Amino acid sequence: MRSIVYERAKGTDAEEPYGTERDVYQPGYEFLIPSMAPCPVPETPPRVRIGGPDCSRPYDMALLNVSAMSFGSLSSNAILALNGGAAAGGFAHDTGEGGLSEYHLRSGGDLVWEIGTGYFGCRTQDGEFDPGEFADKAAHDHVKCVSLKLSQGAKPGIGGVLPGAKVNAEIARVRDVPEGRAVISSPYHQVFSTPRELVRFIARMRELSGGKPTGFELCPGSRLQFLAVCKAMLEEGAAPDFIIVDGAEGGTGAAPLEFADHVGTPLTEGLLTGRARPQAVAREQGRAAVGPVVVVAVEDHPVAGLLLLHVPDPGVLFGASHPGSSHSRARMSPARRVIFDRKKSACSATLPAG
Ligand SMILES: Cc1cc2nc3c(=O)[nH]c(=O)nc-3n(C[C@H](O)[C@H](O)[C@H](O)COP(=O)(O)O)c2cc1C
Repeated sequence: MRSIVYERAKGTDAEEPYGTERDVYQPGYEFLIPSMAPCPVPETPPRVRIGGPDCSRPYDMALLNVSAMSFGSLSSNAILALNGGAAAGGFAHDTGEGGLSEYHLRSGGDLVWEIGTGYFGCRTQDGEFDPGEFADKAAHDHVKCVSLKLSQGAKPGIGGVLPGAKVNAEIARVRDVPEGRAVISSPYHQVFSTPRELVRFIARMRELSGGKPTGFELCPGSRLQFLAVCKAMLEEGAAPDFIIVDGAEGGTGAAPLEFADHVGTPLTEGLLTGRARPQAVAREQGRAAVGPVVVVAVEDHPVAGLLLLHVPDPGVLFGASHPGSSHSRARMSPARRVIFDRKKSACSATLPAG
């Protein structure tokens, strides 16, 4: 595969004779299904609009983009190459949580600026979120979206660690941290501690960024907690412009093996965490419920693992409570009714104040 990538990068045909040598009946073999009616390749690749009603500067994103990998976990040359690729190919490059460096900005590729619990590149000396620095950097023309990282598939529940030996003067400057000292980010955010505070913080970031699409990334865990965030969206009347789902199979610059191997929900199950029959709900309500899927996982490849959804109405999207539900309950089998009632009580669970 690597040699094919090199050949294609040089513009050669790189086509192979005789067909696949893979065992297509091996468990885990993955394939796409073809259409009976192929259509012409579009002149411009399809893009999808990211940005809900509160976003004044929506972004039309490519379907395949570069997912989050920090400067620090990757070298400056790697960042330059990824961003140069994004500029040449017309797709977006997620900075990862290690700050926004000159290497991200030099080639002019579109950026998703990720902010993690360390608030690197927008933090005060005490490690708190610095709204002024955030607003200045988010205003950069190449920054198209802002992503608040809650958790990462390879290590949900713990923050990142960058050993002191790696924290050279340049990385220290980009991250706003002292040179030569290990950088250990907190497993949780200091700025918010309840679902409603999270939703408000996202709205604040969007405002500080001048109206750019703002969302959050997580490796899903408890369905109840996720639904509590959906309920907070409804109660606050504010929603993220996208949600990035990172599966447990995702990569990392560094994580304890126990976490990488055994903590976190794999991507497919993660994508299903918040869904409550959105298509059926949409049909009942006569409108589109699900936002565009921007990127799906490409296994063992650092380009993807993301699902981005525009959240037009979290009540509809996640079935937090909608008028059709009670009508259909009457038609359910007793076993299904029990599941339905459990889901419904989870949706109406009282949220902590704040
Ligand atoms: C070297 C490296 C650094 C990463 N840094 C970040 C990061 O800063 N923030 C983040 O959210 N994810 C980070 N990730 C995770 C990836 O963005 C994500 O898990 C990955 O794209 C999923 O696809 P994969 O299965 O091909 O790794 C990193 C992954 C790697 C390999």
